[in-house]
Amino acid sequence: MNGDLHAAEGHPDRNLALELVRVTEAAALASARWVGHGDKIAADQAAVDAMRFVLDSVPMDGTVVIGEGEKDEAPMLYNGERIGDGSKPEVDIAVDPLEGTTLTAKGFPSALSVIALSERGTMFDPGPCVYMEKMAGTDEIADLLDLDRPVGETLELVAARKSKTVSDVLVIMLDRDRHQDMAKQIREAGARIRFITDGDVSGALMAVSDRSPVDLLWGIGGTPEGVISAAAIHCMGGRMVGRLWPRTDEERSAAVNDGYDLSQILTEHELVKGDDIFFAATGVTDGDMLQGVRYPRKKATTESLIMRSRSGTVRRVLATHNRAKLREITGERYG
Ligand code: FBP
Repeated sequence: MNGDLHAAEGHPDRNLALELVRVTEAAALASARWVGHGDKIAADQAAVDAMRFVLDSVPMDGTVVIGEGEKDEAPMLYNGERIGDGSKPEVDIAVDPLEGTTLTAKGFPSALSVIALSERGTMFDPGPCVYMEKMAGTDEIADLLDLDRPVGETLELVAARKSKTVSDVLVIMLDRDRHQDMAKQIREAGARIRFITDGDVSGALMAVSDRSPVDLLWGIGGTPEGVISAAAIHCMGGRMVGRLWPRTDEERSAAVNDGYDLSQILTEHELVKGDDIFFAATGVTDGDMLQGVRYPRKKATTESLIMRSRSGTVRRVLATHNRAKLREITGERYG
């Protein structure tokens, strides 16, 4: 990592993920107040405001590469925005203050707040490409992931490698019309599908986690979410393969004009090129990977996953927040 993150050789250095967890906790606490209120914009705005408030306290020189959109549409955390006090290290930042805005608005499972950091200039900038194809799985099946091989064959290979039958294999995918044909092929191969209404970062985490029943993520989802998932996979292990998926001819031309190679296979190494990547995610609603925000008496509890690629350390942080004190310190932002 550029800058002074690395202490003298042989000594542990600063782990930014330990600071980032306060950022995602704040965003999760703020957006959790909106669970089930049917207002995804308000839930997202609350997460953005809280994330921004705490991000300012992290000493770093960050540039938002994956943010909430362009400056004119996103008052905060827009792509290109500089974050932090300007001190080292110099980092690229990917944020999704609320991954699963509709999940939160409806009180559905697996909404998260998430942030990832890597060395300056190492994060893939999706430019005009909103969507990408994605496939992800554990290290055990990393070499089998292939977007061009018929999915039935890949499922056979995955089953054989995992010493199970294809009918045991579970694929997680977004429930979208654009996936109908692939869902048909997966069913015809005999495998099982868990459809999710939103939140394919959580889907990717499940696909690479040994603790989850999911064997494979497949689907066309957001490119920003693909970059964030890649950062997590650098830390947790596993493999992701992706490819940009323009929605229209205009998007295709815009991407080609900007120099994007639409046939390129993007693994986690192309999506995030760094080798000192920090990741933090906090559950907003209960999900398979993380418990959501809960309110026992006057407290609030959060569960977070914090990870670093260089050390490969994965931590789970259970926090109890004193809401009255939080309100004193932060105003009404997220107490
Ligand atoms: P939001 O949190 O912005 O609502 O996005 C959630 C999400 O489901 C992502 O996890 C996924 O990558 C993307 O939207 C899929 O996009 P679409 O809903 O347009 O198919």
